[in-house]
Amino acid sequence: MAWVCRLGLLLALVLPAVGSSRPGIVVRLNRAVLDYVSDIGKAPLQRALQVTVPHFWDRNGKELQLTRIQIPDVQVPDLHLTFIAGMGIRVSAAANFTFRVFRSGPEPLELKLPVELMADARVTQSSIRSPLVSISACIPSLDHGFLLDGHNSTAEDPLSHASSSSPPALLPLQKHLKSVLRNKLCLSLASLVQDLNVHLGTLIGLTPVGPESQIQYFMVGKPTVTNDYIALDINAVLFLLGSPIVLAVNATPFLPPQPVGAPGAMVTLCLSQDLFDSALLLLQKAGALNLDVTGQLKSDENPLNTSWLGQFIPEVTRQFPNPMPVVLKVRLGATPEATLGAGNATMRLQPFVEVLVATSNSAFQSLFSMDVEVNLSLQLSVSKVKLRGFTSVLGDVQITMTSSNVGFVDIDQVRLLMGPVFKKPLMNHLNALLGLGIALPHMLNLKYVPPEVFIHEGYVVVSSGLFYER
Ligand SMILES: *[C@@H]1O[C@H](CO)[C@@H](O)[C@H](O)[C@H]1NC(C)=O
Ligand SMILES: *[C@@H]1O[C@H](CO)[C@@H](O)[C@H](O)[C@H]1NC(C)=O
Ligand SMILES: *[C@@H]1O[C@H](CO)[C@@H](O)[C@H](O)[C@H]1NC(C)=O
Ligand SMILES: *[C@@H]1O[C@H](CO)[C@@H](O)[C@H](O)[C@H]1NC(C)=O
Ligand SMILES: *[C@@H]1O[C@H](CO)[C@@H](O)[C@H](O)[C@H]1NC(C)=O
Repeated sequence: MAWVCRLGLLLALVLPAVGSSRPGIVVRLNRAVLDYVSDIGKAPLQRALQVTVPHFWDRNGKELQLTRIQIPDVQVPDLHLTFIAGMGIRVSAAANFTFRVFRSGPEPLELKLPVELMADARVTQSSIRSPLVSISACIPSLDHGFLLDGHNSTAEDPLSHASSSSPPALLPLQKHLKSVLRNKLCLSLASLVQDLNVHLGTLIGLTPVGPESQIQYFMVGKPTVTNDYIALDINAVLFLLGSPIVLAVNATPFLPPQPVGAPGAMVTLCLSQDLFDSALLLLQKAGALNLDVTGQLKSDENPLNTSWLGQFIPEVTRQFPNPMPVVLKVRLGATPEATLGAGNATMRLQPFVEVLVATSNSAFQSLFSMDVEVNLSLQLSVSKVKLRGFTSVLGDVQITMTSSNVGFVDIDQVRLLMGPVFKKPLMNHLNALLGLGIALPHMLNLKYVPPEVFIHEGYVVVSSGLFYER
């Protein structure tokens, strides 16, 4: 819990500085999530309801007798969750309690009691800007009679089916058990919800993007609850060396149209254009997109050497009669632009490329430099909790000369020869980087399976089921 508090403090420090320039994400949890939670929630609810029962003092004739009671088993055959518009979630559960009563006889007595539990949970936002669930109403209904060793032992008829050891009247004991449950069941549910809140708090965890960069998500207001879904408005902050990355243009409030995503999916995440712009800005500022394509002598695969360049720029051969390796320094001064269209995404990269000769291990001599422009198609996928990208070149690489130390350079030839030399290492580099992916909003031990990605104009939708790894 302590780290959650520290994160809260960190957020409190950075948020004023970030202002309104925060890329938005809308996470919509649909009804199917409730079905999944009811399914995986039964076991923890059973454990939570297994409360300790205080000893019972029974009057046996004239003596007071201490009776020890255990709940060896609670079965929750039925757990049902529904959305309550404007509020949160309604919980209704049916539980079968088994009590083991240790009396003076040789065998403990076993009593069973079916109990129904109804509770309303409000879903709001915590002080650390994670989702917060709190029980606003809780009613255990204990109207059923006890079953004694499988028979009906109602309050009116406590002894009719008692065993041959003829136990004393069970009525006071049954009252005791019911009052214990009446007092403890809602508290147990509340404490289960507290554990859930700690888990929900992991939504705002910092997740590494690269060695010096992180992403963090937090809620920007109360969730919207309808009868069909809960929508969480989430913002991302990307950090480079501890400082938040801020888009030059203020992020616009993100309002995705509905309905979106695959029908019946547990969760849909709508990712705004701003998220992609911020992630690319982070990569560019971190220098992660820059690369050096290094030449190597006596290699058939690597043509980057002066004798090869000299074939179309004679001045290179004149200056470097002996073959030397050539290096391409690819630098991204401008942030790549991602365009989200209907059904496809593209990315425009405008690197500055300097062509140098490696005159020794550490000394370089510049031959010429060029502005390059390349359009890439961007395929998006999600694995576990990460959004990953894969790019391939669309169309031609556009090259413009910016300076030359080797006199006239035929731009058509450069385009013809440099294009292929430059494309492959750039794609390998980009795909290695984008393949690492960026974490989507997520919680500890939860992953997206099976995710589907839909690209719309101006936003991306990830539609998925959830899987909780215990
Ligand atoms: C729970 O108790 C009810 C009523 O006694 C019974 O019908 C049902 O089969 C029990 N379910 C389980 C899972 O024990
Ligand atoms: C037990 O007895 C009560 C009251 O007589 C009755 O309402 C209930 O249905 C009975 N339950 C079973 C499982 O026989
Ligand atoms: C220079 O590159 C060309 C083209 O790949 C290659 O055929 C040649 O062997 C290279 N020369 C040296 C000295 O590495
Ligand atoms: C992307 O989709 C748009 C509109 O459907 C289409 O005009 C364009 O050619 C597509 N681009 C690619 C690279 O598939
Ligand atoms: C890249 O795409 C943009 C927008 O479609 C276009 O204006 C530009 O000419 C393209 N550049 C290249 C190198 O294909």
